Amino acid sequence: MLKNSFPLLLAVILLAAGLSSCEEIDNFRGWVFMPDMYDGPAVETYAPNTQIGDSISALKPVNGTVPRGFMAYQEFSPQQSGYDSAKANLTMPKAVPTDSAALVKGLEIYNIFCDHCHGDKGMGKGILVENGVYAGVPAYKDRDINLGSIFHVVTYGKNLMGAHASQITPEERWLVAQHVMKLRAQQTDEAPADEADAPEETEEAAADNQTAMK
Ligand code: HEC
Repeated sequence: MLKNSFPLLLAVILLAAGLSSCEEIDNFRGWVFMPDMYDGPAVETYAPNTQIGDSISALKPVNGTVPRGFMAYQEFSPQQSGYDSAKANLTMPKAVPTDSAALVKGLEIYNIFCDHCHGDKGMGKGILVENGVYAGVPAYKDRDINLGSIFHVVTYGKNLMGAHASQITPEERWLVAQHVMKLRAQQTDEAPADEADAPEETEEAAADNQTAMK
């Protein structure tokens, strides 16, 4: 008899289990039979990590760690005194390219990070200024600046202008500084200070020049 009713008993049990699993319990998230499937053994980046006390897994780099390609820039403080000495003493490293490809790169960086405030001619009439969102952006010709001071300003910012050190690498800062000096020279109609080794103009730059003349 037991033998005959076994399939029926099994069916009843399965049906009961099936129906009960449809029960609605709002906060019940189901039974966990294999925890590894739910909580992976891998360490989660921002989750507390029991291996290292109360810290999260994404640890800060060891003190003194520098990213690859990092150029130390500690001599000049972010303050006005640092700005002044950068203007007086900071020169562009020889390793930074000054050829036409470098100028094009400088223009690209300028278009991404500076144009919206400073404008494509560097007259302080970027789109944000035109729209009245931002004010107080100077024309480069009205400022006594050089490569060193521009590098400092891009690195640390100045008054209303924010620091760009986190977005622009030191080499890119030198490239964009060269572009700023070029814009400034176009505004003041005087040759760039280091004209001797000034690179040949690219077509784009030449076109720029022509519109600037108008
Ligand atoms: C959000 C708007 C904004 C952006 C973006 C911006 N600037 Fe400026 N910039 C300013 C303002 C405002 C000033 C005037 C600061 C002051 O009061 O001296 C300024 C000043 C400057 C000066 C003159 C500083 C001096 O020594 O007198 C330079 C050079 C300069 N910016 C270069 C750049 C470059 C290069 C970029 C892009 C990497 C850039 N700026 C991006 C707003 C901006």
